[in-house]
Amino acid sequence: MKIRAAILTEPHAPFRVEEVELDPPQHGEVLVKMSAVGVCHSDWHLVTGATKHPMPVVPGHEGAGVVEAVGAGVTTIKVGDHVVLSWAPSCGTCFYCLRDRANLCETYTGPIWNGTMLDGTTRLHWNGQPLYSYCGLAALAERTVVPAASCVVIDAEVSLTSASLIGCAVATGVGAAMYTANVRPGESVLVFGVGGVGINVIQGARLCGANPIIAVDTQWPKIWVAKHFGASSVFMASDKVEEAIRDMTDGRGVDHAIDATGLPEVQERAFTCIRPGGTLTLAGLAPMGSSTNFPSAVITRQEKIIKGSYYGTVNPPRDFPKFVDLYKAGKLNLDDLITKRYSLDQVNEAYKAMIDGDVARGVIKFA
Ligand SMILES: NC(=O)c1ccc[n+]([C@@H]2O[C@H](COP(=O)([O-])OP(=O)(O)OC[C@H]3O[C@@H](n4cnc5c(N)ncnc54)[C@H](O)[C@@H]3O)[C@@H](O)[C@H]2O)c1
Ligand SMILES: [Zn+2]
Ligand SMILES: [Zn+2]
Repeated sequence: MKIRAAILTEPHAPFRVEEVELDPPQHGEVLVKMSAVGVCHSDWHLVTGATKHPMPVVPGHEGAGVVEAVGAGVTTIKVGDHVVLSWAPSCGTCFYCLRDRANLCETYTGPIWNGTMLDGTTRLHWNGQPLYSYCGLAALAERTVVPAASCVVIDAEVSLTSASLIGCAVATGVGAAMYTANVRPGESVLVFGVGGVGINVIQGARLCGANPIIAVDTQWPKIWVAKHFGASSVFMASDKVEEAIRDMTDGRGVDHAIDATGLPEVQERAFTCIRPGGTLTLAGLAPMGSSTNFPSAVITRQEKIIKGSYYGTVNPPRDFPKFVDLYKAGKLNLDDLITKRYSLDQVNEAYKAMIDGDVARGVIKFA
């Protein structure tokens, strides 16, 4: 079938919206009509070249929609189901899945990062050539075919626009605080970057009972946003953050610093703010091939811990419905995250607004 999709043909070029060919779902796959897709900085890394990926590619990995058809062998998902898409499908039987690390599933990670379905082929074509699916999802399209393992069925009464953000920003941010950092009640949390991910780190820290929750950003509007979502103190990055942290923690430093910028220099700064025995959690994605300098002489002597956080260490089938329940109970704020809605044709405007810091999260809405 013919569908419209946003395409990147090479780094440093704008998104194009084109008519492309989508094949029917094959064995173990699902056709989803997209309702909404969140505008995440990870798609932007394809534009800057910070993430290398086969091209041309249809980006978009923070989406939700309605199932329109299922391929052979799909038993757990049916036509009409409302689904949030997971960009880290898991097989349930590999080394990592068996050790409760579904986000690191080794069976499905390879094909997903090659931009294909799990059988190594593409369902999308453009001008007779293969068109790759970012994260196996290609969500910035009217319809998409994805592995059934990438679909998490949710309560059909919940708005798919709000739920779409669970597919990346919420899972990554809330999960970084809740699962990767394992924040305990009363612990201090310092968050760098108040974007879609960082706001959800703040929400996750709040759900874990953290106190204080301190946020840092470079943009003035983010000060209000951080407070609205539960930060107790907010600083501009140009402020003397380190000094303020010492004043607030009897000179020790915070229990947890969490980076949600992906900038190596910010990650190094965050490291200096944690106390001896404290934990730095890296949720932001630094450019592929870049490195961050952490002083091993200090790490050893002060038993400081540095953790990577991939998809917030969540298990999507277990955690997405849990996040939906927290939303329904009024404990997780999804609605206020969305500060602007765009059509697919406005995709370039949507990513520019993210880079300019004009939105908490923008969302591409489909008719
Ligand atoms: N680990 C994962 O699994 C995962 C998943 C999703 C996104 N990410 C990554 O997380 C990062 C954030 O994504 P996002 O969608 O929230 O991006 P975003 O652009 O919405 O937010 C980034 C925020 O960082 C702020 N910032 C920039 N420079 C700063 C500085 N020097 N000090 C403090 N704040 C600064 C910006 O003003 C902005 O508010 C990206 O690198 C993204 O690729 C990682
Ligand atoms: Zn697995
Ligand atoms: Zn994302």
